[in-house]
Amino acid sequence: MVRLDLQPITPALGATVAVTADDVLGEGVPEQILGALDRHHVLVFPQIHMTDEVFLELTAALGQMHANTVTDDGSEASDKGIFRIALDKSDPTQLDFIKGNDYWHMDGMSYAVPCKASLLKCVSAPREGGDTGFANLHAAYAALPASMRERLHGLRVGHCLSAVGRRMYAEPTDADFARWDAVFPRLEHPLVWHQHGGDAALLIGSTANDIVGLDEAVGGALLEELLEWCTQPRFTHRHAWRDGDLVIFNNPALLHSSYPYSEAARRVMHRTTLQGKLAIDTRAGDLLPARESRQKQTNSLKSGHRPILDWSVTWSLNEQKSSSRKA
Ligand SMILES: [Fe+2]
Repeated sequence: MVRLDLQPITPALGATVAVTADDVLGEGVPEQILGALDRHHVLVFPQIHMTDEVFLELTAALGQMHANTVTDDGSEASDKGIFRIALDKSDPTQLDFIKGNDYWHMDGMSYAVPCKASLLKCVSAPREGGDTGFANLHAAYAALPASMRERLHGLRVGHCLSAVGRRMYAEPTDADFARWDAVFPRLEHPLVWHQHGGDAALLIGSTANDIVGLDEAVGGALLEELLEWCTQPRFTHRHAWRDGDLVIFNNPALLHSSYPYSEAARRVMHRTTLQGKLAIDTRAGDLLPARESRQKQTNSLKSGHRPILDWSVTWSLNEQKSSSRKA
């Protein structure tokens, strides 16, 4: 039986996996990959150069493939049920989705059961930009001061697609909000997601819109502070793509984001997704406020306005960061 050779990338997350495309479906190999995914969260198979057929077989060997709504681009990959990720400025719906990936997020926040993992195959490496960043939410939560974990306990957070849209669009229109709300209306998740095995992850990132029961500005500032905390270098890894790379990531343990790139970079990725098993205690959210109020939120986001918090979030997080820098 092939034994996987794993090399950790950082103490917090990631491992490179040395295995060929011929051996990746060998007896016991998918099981070893799943075990490694639980431990390291991001598995990099450098330049493994697998065909779409092997890519699909590996996906099936690892779990139940999530039926993505594939891109309607007439490509061979889409015909096979593979989601093709490439910038195409002629398709505004697709552009929303692709550009939205440039912000830290967890996939599947519009579901009560987010996907277990995504597999990304690099068909054409970007000529410039387009790296993918990963942040270990389990490690970031465990490193929070106990007093902060107590404060966050029991809070709930509203997620929706328009939270992402407001970051991307300077002047969103009613039609923009209607398009986003049709895809992913507001849902309320717990801010701290306690997962199987005792690990916890903060449900934050670009789709996080508000903290239930907190003033809009205070809740927004708390979400930004927590995002800053979780994406510190000590919890993150940034992958620079080369043709033929495969990366598998453990979605519920991470935030991820792509670094900006242009259409000229000609970045093309193929993605498959595994259905999740871990449920969040999710509720349908209240309706979003009227557009006028949301426009106001947009403007405060753009101006970088950061209100002074009336509780000690800023102080305790900064204190922890500066003491960790000294260590
Ligand atoms: Fe994503």
